[in-house]
Amino acid sequence: MNLFAIITVLAALSVNVAFTQRWSKKRGEMCRSGDGSSYRGSVNKSHSGRRCLNWNRMKHIYGASKGIGDHNYCRNPDYSLMPWCLVRRRSRTVREFCDIPRCSTPTVRPRAPPPPMDTERTCGERPERRMNKIVGGSFIPIESHPWVAAIFHKRHGFLCGGSLISPCWVLTAAHCFSDGELTKIPYLSVYLGKSAINDTDAEKEQQFIVEKLIIHQNYNDTSYNSDIALVKIKSRKGGCAVRSSTVRTVCIPPLHTQLPAGFTCSIAGFGKESFESFQFSQYLKQADVKLLSSAECSSELQYRNRITENMFCAGSPDWSTDACKGDSGGPLVCEASGRMFLFGVVSWGEGCAWKNRPGVYTRVTNYNKWIAEKTGLTEYTKGSMYPQK
Ligand SMILES: *[C@@H]1O[C@H](CO)[C@@H](O)[C@H](O)[C@H]1NC(C)=O
Ligand SMILES: *[C@@H]1O[C@H](CO)[C@@H](O)[C@H](O)[C@H]1NC(C)=O
Ligand SMILES: *[C@@H]1O[C@H](CO)[C@@H](O)[C@H](O)[C@H]1NC(C)=O
Repeated sequence: MNLFAIITVLAALSVNVAFTQRWSKKRGEMCRSGDGSSYRGSVNKSHSGRRCLNWNRMKHIYGASKGIGDHNYCRNPDYSLMPWCLVRRRSRTVREFCDIPRCSTPTVRPRAPPPPMDTERTCGERPERRMNKIVGGSFIPIESHPWVAAIFHKRHGFLCGGSLISPCWVLTAAHCFSDGELTKIPYLSVYLGKSAINDTDAEKEQQFIVEKLIIHQNYNDTSYNSDIALVKIKSRKGGCAVRSSTVRTVCIPPLHTQLPAGFTCSIAGFGKESFESFQFSQYLKQADVKLLSSAECSSELQYRNRITENMFCAGSPDWSTDACKGDSGGPLVCEASGRMFLFGVVSWGEGCAWKNRPGVYTRVTNYNKWIAEKTGLTEYTKGSMYPQK
């Protein structure tokens, strides 16, 4: 049998294929990419398990540039379908293809666009605005206050509310972490986009672990002065909050901004429905409250000397609605130019909606510099989205 003739026939058969293959510039591959013509590995068996014959002991037309030499490794010098070699089969010399592992082609997935994130210029927007005012509080979908965060503790369950001020940071109250166990970061988790405490809506909510907890260094647990804390959140994949209709950031007003007494703002949270009730309301609620002047809130009738410069008061005119205990850490937001700004963090109050005992809030605009210093969010704390006079 004329070996050279066999090779020539087979080579001719593979010409069709050869036209469609291109010479790979990559030399010396140990795996097969494309037709494997640049394969230079040392597999020396055909796919049927037969031992390959040494190229130099055979007659062939291929040179060293095609990887042929004094060896018996599979090669594809003629740009056939895949590397092959010559083997002995029933006393004839034939070519057989070889099983060469394919190079793991870097899966050319079109790179997913980065998930949308709120910036300091897209804060305080809500897809669902409530035009009607409801005194007494009302159950609302999270879309009405998409910056509301729910902070949970592994052992204690729902701990506090909070507000998303940037994709990675939640602002809340210091008193939520009143004892050592509550400050243990691995026990804490934060949910955004949650409308009910005891319910999970995977489509809407985002879950985070806590990377950092920063309690204000001057927080006084007797007077509740500087009742403010920051929580840095991180998803299990390492990201922060992704913008959606249920998860948005709230704006921070500029340093020392104050709104006049009588201005109507909103509070939101999973608060208890009354001081006596044991359970949280389970569903997110909101209520409208009016800001009170410091003079009024510090009056003999109300809290006298317990209101510091870092606090302000708000209540409903007929004392029918208020932030209750479960709302701690949650937002008091006021609207300006169509955006919602975080003016207060629910801090304390005597009872719930008791006469002359308004809710007391941490005055967020006294803490712009503290927030910037702790988080590095200098752009967010400038309050540049607040309407200029
Ligand atoms: C085939 O290759 C292996 C490893 O490279 C080597 O140990 C073996 O001797 C080779 N077989 C023949 C027949 O050349
Ligand atoms: C959540 O709590 C509310 C009020 O207690 C209850 O009506 C509702 O069925 C609960 N939902 C789930 C999923 O447990
Ligand atoms: C905390 O506040 C209480 C009540 O106003 C005050 O007596 C106490 O000195 C304060 N503690 C500190 C460390 O400032």
